Amino acid sequence: MTDPGERKPLVLVSNRGPVTFQDDGSVVRGTGGLVTALTGLASHRPVTWIASAMTPMDAIRAREANGPITVRSPVGGEYQVRYVASDPDAYERFYSVFANPMLWFIQHYLWDLSNAPDVRSNEIAAFEYGYQVVNEDLARAVVEEIEGVEDPVVMVHDYHLYTLPAMVRAARPDVFLSHFVHIPWTQSDAWRVLPQRTRDTLYEGLLANDIIGFHTTSYRNNFLQCCRDLMHLEVDFDDGLVHFQGRDVWVRVYPLPIDAGATRQISRTARVKEFETELLRRRRDHLILRVDRADLSKNVLRGFSAFDLFLDQHPEFRERVTFIAQLMPSRTDVPEYAEYLEKIEALVAVVNHRHGTPDWMPIQLKLRDDLDEAMAAYKNYDVLLVNAMFDGMNLVAKEGPLVNEHGGVSILSENTGAHEELGEYAISVNPFDIQELATSIHQALTMGVDERERRLAGLKRIVTARNPGDWIDDQLEDIRAKGAGG
Ligand code: F6P
Repeated sequence: MTDPGERKPLVLVSNRGPVTFQDDGSVVRGTGGLVTALTGLASHRPVTWIASAMTPMDAIRAREANGPITVRSPVGGEYQVRYVASDPDAYERFYSVFANPMLWFIQHYLWDLSNAPDVRSNEIAAFEYGYQVVNEDLARAVVEEIEGVEDPVVMVHDYHLYTLPAMVRAARPDVFLSHFVHIPWTQSDAWRVLPQRTRDTLYEGLLANDIIGFHTTSYRNNFLQCCRDLMHLEVDFDDGLVHFQGRDVWVRVYPLPIDAGATRQISRTARVKEFETELLRRRRDHLILRVDRADLSKNVLRGFSAFDLFLDQHPEFRERVTFIAQLMPSRTDVPEYAEYLEKIEALVAVVNHRHGTPDWMPIQLKLRDDLDEAMAAYKNYDVLLVNAMFDGMNLVAKEGPLVNEHGGVSILSENTGAHEELGEYAISVNPFDIQELATSIHQALTMGVDERERRLAGLKRIVTARNPGDWIDDQLEDIRAKGAGG
């Protein structure tokens, strides 16, 4: 059977592209799991990647080129990217009003029900005049890109683009569309905060795909149940099918692996070694680490409260342990995110004031995105804290153990996608239970060497068992199978 990706151009479409261009001419790599996954895909096979222009300089490049351009990522790799510049007001509504505070919150159970009636009209306007506009702009670029191509294949990514598939299908009924959702799919009641018309448009958009992929079985099952509860559709849980408008939509699970080879390579560079030397020079007996975007779903505040409680309950660890929190400011135009960052800084100040001494700062807060600095800390932590309230996958839970050389123990929230694969070798925690988190920190720091090494070896084994090439191949195999089956 011919690989559709071999004989047809593979088109990827996502909101964030592999790099953004800055005003000073520099190029910054895109962050997050989606970019990591897609750069893996783009280096595996020839693709055209369609993405939103996210900076003014991206928009200038988009207008100048009016088609794909070749971009080089600072962390390696060359990509054919077609940037699409939307109207700035529409984009702001799309990103900072609907996609993030609304959809992201709904899909992480963060939506504050007590506030819903007050803000709903604003967000519904943002759906009509923001979300839909950006989806239409990107859909138009996809349709142009596949013009004249017979049986094209388009891979759509994430919650920003739920309505794009229906738009592309309307223009090109012959297109094969597969959509991967990188974040959790919540249970049907969480979706009921959306007015029915908006909800139906989102689900109908998504169901225009041929295949929809998730990281875990639980998200897949939630999606199927939502299709039954909210859309009253016939679904088949055993085979993972939704019957929609005379078609069978396949609903599949493809857990995202990391690129172990590339990650190890980064961990060995001279710049990482420099950071490591500095880290080891200042090191106390124990190092606790977290690396996250400063996102509400990551549960940063409860992590610090648990550390505070741990120091109260185990004063023998004072001055002997440092908690490094490398947090990348994210979505700072969204008020909830800006406030969250302020709360993080305030709580760090409180904990450091309560327990710190002239020579010892218990929490070191690093508000920046520096992969090399994170790698140096990954190699040397004793405890990796991943306590997200809810998280689609969480690649930190995979990258950390892969490169750790210190018998590092993972404390892992049971509500992360990564827990489905790694839970057995981590200390599993309920992310809302601060006492349990504090106890887990103590358990991790006092665990015997053999047990630490056994767990770390188990994590390394699982993390290296599959690579992004396998992730893509699994999807292409299903595309092939479904394409062939009609
Ligand atoms: O899938 C979630 C995601 O798209 C990931 O790439 C990453 O965790 C994050 O969201 C990035 O968000 P943004 O593009 O808003 O910075």
